Amino acid sequence: MNLLNAVPSILATPQKWNRHVYIRRKCRKVGAGLKETLFSKRGAHILKEMMIVQLQTIFNTEAPNKSTRIIGGECSGILNWNDIRMPHMYKLYKVLLLNHWIADEIPMSKDAQQFARMDSEEQRTFKINISLLAVLDSMQTMFVGDVKRYFTDSSLEAISAIIGQQEVVHNQSYSYVLSSIVSDQEQKEVFEYWKHDPVLLERNKFISDIYQNFRDDSNPQTFYEALVADLILEGIFFYSTFAFFYNLARDQKMMGTSQMISYIQRDENQHCYFFAEVFKQLLADYPELDTPANKEYAYRTINRAVELETNWAYYTLKEVKGIDLEELSDYIKYIANRRLNLMGMEKAYEGVDVNCMPWIKPFSDDALNATKTDFFEAKSRNYGKVGDDNGFDDL
Ligand SMILES: [Fe+2]
Ligand SMILES: [Fe+2]
Repeated sequence: MNLLNAVPSILATPQKWNRHVYIRRKCRKVGAGLKETLFSKRGAHILKEMMIVQLQTIFNTEAPNKSTRIIGGECSGILNWNDIRMPHMYKLYKVLLLNHWIADEIPMSKDAQQFARMDSEEQRTFKINISLLAVLDSMQTMFVGDVKRYFTDSSLEAISAIIGQQEVVHNQSYSYVLSSIVSDQEQKEVFEYWKHDPVLLERNKFISDIYQNFRDDSNPQTFYEALVADLILEGIFFYSTFAFFYNLARDQKMMGTSQMISYIQRDENQHCYFFAEVFKQLLADYPELDTPANKEYAYRTINRAVELETNWAYYTLKEVKGIDLEELSDYIKYIANRRLNLMGMEKAYEGVDVNCMPWIKPFSDDALNATKTDFFEAKSRNYGKVGDDNGFDDL
């Protein structure tokens, strides 16, 4: 056993303190010479370098064009879509491009009139849910940027660039909605809620702490944990809020906003697919991460996320007519099971195999065109169809 052979196990050890203990034990086994080297200043530096995943080199003529591992691997840096390690990523790339949309295409005049007629409680619920979404997408833009730098696979890096761009579009849509319906001063207040509202703060911090940990100490273990957090953010943490906006749409209210939410949900579904594929590939590339402790981490973290999402629903939606909170609580578990399935894991919740809220789904273009609302005065999008043919909508 030498230090190099020990590195994968060191990387897979979850906590920094445990890693330290592991290294000490390993050193006892491999002899004092190495121990001296390892705990010298130089040795500590070498070890630190080895434990941090290296960034992709921009220009590397020595490495193959096709990546050897998604992170910490070798890749020349050139992108040839016909020679990539995960060929199904090319289909995802094309779907993401076809789903391009921008908020300014959607007319908001009717939403503005309807918002002004809402009671103050309904207005507050609307604004606090927009505030939540704005925080989630802001964090997500930063996280996708972080991940992008560490991929040693040009195709994954390219898809991250597109996903990052979509998160920015999502953020713009929240500013666009607010600027259409409230004053400048009120917009600023909405973008302050997240700093002070304790329930909002708790659920956002839950994710941001894990993302920050990956940013501060980037290695396969923190990447594993961040991918679990990603699947929670994109795959669970939006869903009470989607329920709120679609419930308004069921009453033909705030249809412009709901159209944007529908596009955002469709994008998020595809992002979930991407990060779940990355999650499974990470375990294939680093089998030492596939441990009972890591599985337990994923289940525990997702279970806490389900609690936080359910608390959020009870906190913000209890006065909303048309949403049964017990049903929504089951729906959140149902969607958590779907995410686990996507990650290649067993379901965590029994008795929720049927989708009890099938109306929480992206509107298809056909449905949009069949409804007699302002929806259809929106400029038609020529890029691609929303619907059954892109293969990623119903994940
Ligand atoms: Fe997003
Ligand atoms: Fe996303």
